[in-house]
Amino acid sequence: MRFGPDILARCDALAAISEDRDRLTRTYLTPQHRAAGETIAGWMRDAGMEARFDAIGNVVGRYVAADPNAPVVVTGSHMDSVVDAGRYDGIFGILAPIACVDDLHARGRRLPYTLEIVAFGDEEGVRFGVSMLGSRALAGRFDMAALDRRDANGTSLREALVAFGGDPAAIASLARRGVVAYVETHIEQGPVLLDAGLPVGVVTSIAGGTRLAVRVEGLAGHAGTVPMPARQDALAAAAEMVLAIERHCAERADTLVGTVGKLAVAGGGAINVIPGAVEFTVDLRSGDDARRRAALAAVEAECRTIAARRRVTLAWEPFFELAAAPCDARLQAQWAAAVAAHGVPVRHLPSGAGHDAMEFAKLAPIAMLFVRCGNGGISHSPRETLAVEDAELATSVFLHFLEHFDPAPFSG
Ligand code: GLV
Ligand code: MN
Ligand code: MN
Repeated sequence: MRFGPDILARCDALAAISEDRDRLTRTYLTPQHRAAGETIAGWMRDAGMEARFDAIGNVVGRYVAADPNAPVVVTGSHMDSVVDAGRYDGIFGILAPIACVDDLHARGRRLPYTLEIVAFGDEEGVRFGVSMLGSRALAGRFDMAALDRRDANGTSLREALVAFGGDPAAIASLARRGVVAYVETHIEQGPVLLDAGLPVGVVTSIAGGTRLAVRVEGLAGHAGTVPMPARQDALAAAAEMVLAIERHCAERADTLVGTVGKLAVAGGGAINVIPGAVEFTVDLRSGDDARRRAALAAVEAECRTIAARRRVTLAWEPFFELAAAPCDARLQAQWAAAVAAHGVPVRHLPSGAGHDAMEFAKLAPIAMLFVRCGNGGISHSPRETLAVEDAELATSVFLHFLEHFDPAPFSG
C-alpha cells in the first residue's frame, strides 16, 4: 500500500495532541491547535508545499502551479475536534491530499492549477459555539460580531486569536478570489457505505442547519416547602420542551433531525432547590431549507405553549444558520469517474453532517468524496474507525481526481 498506513499513523500522531489526558479533545486557538497545525505544516513542507498559519489560525499549504496565474483549487478539512472525539473526523481530509501532493512532487508532476490544502482551525465550534470559523473566513463570510463571543472561561474570540498570534484586523483580507473549485474528502460519519459494502461514495448535497440557544426562566424555591402546583420549575419545563422537539423531528424523520446537545441548570443547580433557570441548545438539520425553517417555527411555537402553561419565560435565540449546500454535478461526475477507474461501483449519498465545504458553496462549485466509517458508522466518538484499505483507496481516488481535473470549464 502506498498511502494508507502512513496516513493512519499520522492520524494516530495527531490524536495524541489533545487537551485531555485520556481522550482526544482539540479545540480552537489552544496550544494543542498550534501543535497540531505545526505538525501538519511540517508534513506539507515535506511534501513539497509552502505552508503557514493564516490570520485566523488555519494552516494553508500551497502546491503552486508552474503558471503563477493559474486558477486555484482548494481542498482540506478541519484540525479541531469535538470533546472526546474520533481521530479521523476532519483529519483524513487534510492528510489524504497531502499524501497526494507528496506523490505528485516525488514524480515531479505539477498541476495546471495551484492546489491549496487548508487545515481549518475551527469547524466544530466547540469553544465559541459558532462553527466553521476557519472556512467562513476564507469564503469571505466571516461575521466580525463573532469576535465578541466568549468561551466557557470568559475569554473572547478576539483575545484568544490575538494570544494565538492571529490578527482580527486581517480576517477580511483572507477572503479568496479566483477559486475554481472546492473539494473535500471526509469519513462518512454514518453507516450508508458500510451497509452497502462500499469503501467510498460521492456526496450529492450537505444538509443545512440552524443552531439556537434557549433560556427558560421559572422561579427558584425550596425543594421541601413549595407545593407542587405552585412551582415554576425551569428544568421540568425544559424537559418537556426537549421531548417536544424530539417528537416533532421524529415525526418527520425522513427529512429532519433535531438534537438538544447541551442542557444545564444555571449556576449548576442544587439537590434541594427547584431549578430557577435552565439553558439548552438546539441543533436542527435538514437537506431541505424550507422544511428546516418550518420546523424551527413549529418547535418554537410548541415551546412557547409549554412555557405559558408552566408559567416560565422563554428566550429563544437562533445564533447560527447554514443553508443546505448542493454539490456541483460536474465535480460529482469527476469524483464518480475517479471511483469507477478503481473498479468500485459508484454510490451517491447525501451528507447529514456539516462540512467546511458548505462555506465555499457560494464562492465556488463544491464536491465531496466520503470514505467508509467502520464500527457501525459511529463518529464524534472515540469508537470511530477507518480501515487502512479504505484510506488507501480513497487517497488513490483523490489522486486520480487531482490528476484528471481540468480547471478550464470552471474558470471565468
Ligand atoms: C460537524 O461535525 C457537524 O456536523 O456538526
Ligand atoms: Mn465533526
Ligand atoms: Mn468533520
